[in-house]
Amino acid sequence: MNQYDYIIVGSGIAGLYTSLLAREQGSVLILTKGSIDECNTKYAQGGIAAAIGHGDSAELHYRDTLSAGAGLCDPEAVRILVEEAPDRITDLINFGVPFDTMDGEVALAREAAHSVPRILHAGGDATGEHIEVTLSRMARLAKITILEYFLATEIIVEDGVVRGVRAFDCRTGSVEEFRSRAVILATGGGGRLFKFTTNPDIATCDGIALAYDAGAEITDMEFLQFHPTALRLPGVIPFLISEAVRGEGGILRNAEGRQFMFDYSPEGDLASRDIVARSILYEMNKTGSDRVFLDVTHLPPRKTSARFPQIYRFCLDHSLDITKTLIPIAPAAHYMMGGVKTNAWGETNIAGLFAAGEAACTGVHGANRLASNSLLEVVVFAKRILQRTEEALKPSELACQRSDKDYFYFRE
Ligand code: FAD
Ligand code: SIN
Repeated sequence: MNQYDYIIVGSGIAGLYTSLLAREQGSVLILTKGSIDECNTKYAQGGIAAAIGHGDSAELHYRDTLSAGAGLCDPEAVRILVEEAPDRITDLINFGVPFDTMDGEVALAREAAHSVPRILHAGGDATGEHIEVTLSRMARLAKITILEYFLATEIIVEDGVVRGVRAFDCRTGSVEEFRSRAVILATGGGGRLFKFTTNPDIATCDGIALAYDAGAEITDMEFLQFHPTALRLPGVIPFLISEAVRGEGGILRNAEGRQFMFDYSPEGDLASRDIVARSILYEMNKTGSDRVFLDVTHLPPRKTSARFPQIYRFCLDHSLDITKTLIPIAPAAHYMMGGVKTNAWGETNIAGLFAAGEAACTGVHGANRLASNSLLEVVVFAKRILQRTEEALKPSELACQRSDKDYFYFRE
């Protein structure tokens, strides 16, 4: 009963997108520890990067990614990321993700450290919610088995090969065992390890711990990204104020009202995320304040509320009209560059164990992820996992593998 071809742990973009591809190859079980849509993905604002605009190219995207990564990206992985991006965007559009358009073409926004506008978004700043809702609807339509409130507690490895997952049923308190030929960890990041974070409660690094316990290699855990602009209001969660706000002309000012980013970088307010977050910290220390401010009061109010409806509404609900008042912000833990080490096909060092999304470390982000490259990394490398397993399913190989071992052997 509890035997599947694929067990996928997690139901953010990595889990859902992977499940839709895996469904074409075999039976799929998704285990997720909360409700299906409680994940980092749902809160993504800025969007997803891809070099699809006029005047843009994979080469430019490649250079921007390497430069943001502070010399520590894996160049081959970045090449794959930028070159496969347009096809994966087409996949998302085909699944029904309603990216915003302008004059009949997909609208592209600018974000920090991108040399040209290349960010696709949906519902203005509600990109993640649109992706999550679209893919979860597709997964239900595809009749994928989805067990909500099942917390994965152990990856079962026998003779060096993955055989399944043990999970705690949060509703009944029982532990169940699920067997499979492949396990894909799509458990997201770990922002919740920090006091101030943009991440929801589920982001507790589970996948890293599960993989580590199973004997998988973990890498780059020292690289944790702090988003420069999270709302800083007493008693209010550090709600993200998207980098796209600066892309539209927002200006950072210190507690004395002075624009300061050009003191630190010729790129000013559009310097890469690590530089901006550090500069804000210097200014906070200099002025003895626990915040700086983001100023959009000079932008047309209607444009601000239409382009950033979620941010506008959230702030207004907390008595802050951002079209008239400066937004108090401070850096907050946001994204984990490190994770379960994978090759360019999402494979770990354990046969049959794969990792996708924020839980994985493919090497594309180096020391600092370029804005909106995370959602892109998920879809590019998730697709490659399924390309890999499809190869293993080809009749000749399947026959020889099935003759003596009832599992995929995914590694060369
Ligand atoms: P998640 O979406 O976090 O999903 C993880 C899933 O795993 C969840 O369903 C969770 O419940 C489940 N899970 C975890 N542990 C277990 C367990 N033990 N057992 C069972 N299930 C488990 N990136 C961009 O590229 N562009 C953006 O605009 C952008 N904006 C962002 C805004 C915010 C506020 C945040 C927090 C992040 C943003 N990011 C953005 C980053 C991006 O959203 C995430 O990196 C990406 O969504 C991660 O997707 P994922 O599927 O790997 O993980
Ligand atoms: C944002 O909208 O600023 C978040 C983008 C990202 O994390 O890539």
